[in-house]
Amino acid sequence: MTSKTSMNILLFIFMLVLPCLVGLSQGECDFKAIFNFGDSNSDTGGFYAAFPAESGPYGMTYFNKPAGRASDGRLVIDFIAQAIGIPFLSPYLQSIGSYYKHGANYATLASTVLLPNTSLFATGISPFSLAIQLNQMKQFATKVKEADQQETKLPSPDILGKSLYTFYIGQNDFTSNLAVIGTGGVQEFLPQVVSQIAATIKELYNLGGRTFMVLNLAPVGCYPSFLVELPHNSSDLDEFGCMVSYNNAVVDYNKMLKESLKQTRESISDASVIYVDTYTVLLELFRHPTSHGLQYGTKACCGYGGGEYNFNPKVYCGNTKEINGKRVTATACDDPYNYVSWDGIHATEAASKLITYAILNGSYSDPPFPFQEHCDLQPIG
Ligand SMILES: *[C@@H]1O[C@H](CO)[C@@H](O)[C@H](O)[C@H]1NC(C)=O
Ligand SMILES: *[C@@H]1O[C@H](CO)[C@@H](O)[C@H](O)[C@H]1NC(C)=O
Ligand SMILES: *[C@@H]1O[C@H](CO)[C@@H](O)[C@H](O)[C@H]1NC(C)=O
Repeated sequence: MTSKTSMNILLFIFMLVLPCLVGLSQGECDFKAIFNFGDSNSDTGGFYAAFPAESGPYGMTYFNKPAGRASDGRLVIDFIAQAIGIPFLSPYLQSIGSYYKHGANYATLASTVLLPNTSLFATGISPFSLAIQLNQMKQFATKVKEADQQETKLPSPDILGKSLYTFYIGQNDFTSNLAVIGTGGVQEFLPQVVSQIAATIKELYNLGGRTFMVLNLAPVGCYPSFLVELPHNSSDLDEFGCMVSYNNAVVDYNKMLKESLKQTRESISDASVIYVDTYTVLLELFRHPTSHGLQYGTKACCGYGGGEYNFNPKVYCGNTKEINGKRVTATACDDPYNYVSWDGIHATEAASKLITYAILNGSYSDPPFPFQEHCDLQPIG
């Protein structure tokens, strides 16, 4: 036997043994399901199942038709599902064609953390606040426990402890009244938001959940829509064209969130409570798009008006309106893969994919959480 052959055999044995050593074989993952709580950043069709209305060019990149997502294609939550080898999450509110064996998605566009009756924070668009999303999850858990084993559309009851619980919510609490409360209002109004997220995690823990992942708030000071709509002057713009005051306010909120999750982690020590710094990942994309294979930072792909931001609050992506006696339509660019911002508010599929790579890597998480130690990751191309 040549030494090359024996090397190959050794390598072969190593490849067989290694996955067993780390407890994973081909396609395996510690997480059999995902339960997601959120707003439009992770809504896979819930809002439009309840209130059908979505039109093109939403969905143009991946689904080739509107797919209930506020993007041209897949969202971060879609890419995470693909990476851990489960189907895209069905919205809890979607009665047609849903499949819940691998979890459910409670996120809906415009959702807030705080109750819609706390008037300061209500967006007035979505009634599905975090408390309602939690109630829906409790109902789901009850149905799963009651279901007989022949039930083909629901997972088995032990799924609750083998799931990843993700949160991508809070942006609407932050932005819907920012112009009113000013950036100084963060310390005054947002502690309730982080404590509500922490309380929700504890309730899910009591249901059996053990792994919780919370994505922090994005740098909204770089979003084309807010650059157009929020009051600011040029001295508030940094060298990358983002509003310093609003991004600083987001940083303040994120610090509060991180601290609150640290305390939550200490109180439920046999669970993983993971804070994910998506803020830093997105900020880097807005600041240096070309370093990451993109072209445009603070300019929306789908919008009307062109110029620096290509965003007009009178006519959102896909809509047609009369402006100054002229009928105009906010249409999509031909190359969404070159943009961070899809419609001035939401990320493109291209940006979402880059964010997902950072999340899977684990180094933007506190504590660090490399997914590859928990799952045999699938390609997300
Ligand atoms: C909102 O409703 C909840 C539950 O009914 C109640 O506890 C809370 O006081 C209400 N908040 C406001 C501001 O009305
Ligand atoms: C810009 O805004 C800040 C805060 O609102 C204000 O203090 C400053 O005077 C403004 N600068 C200019 C040039 O208007
Ligand atoms: C995460 O990214 C860092 C920096 O690029 C790299 O050094 C590290 O190996 C990556 N970790 C994993 C688990 O991929």
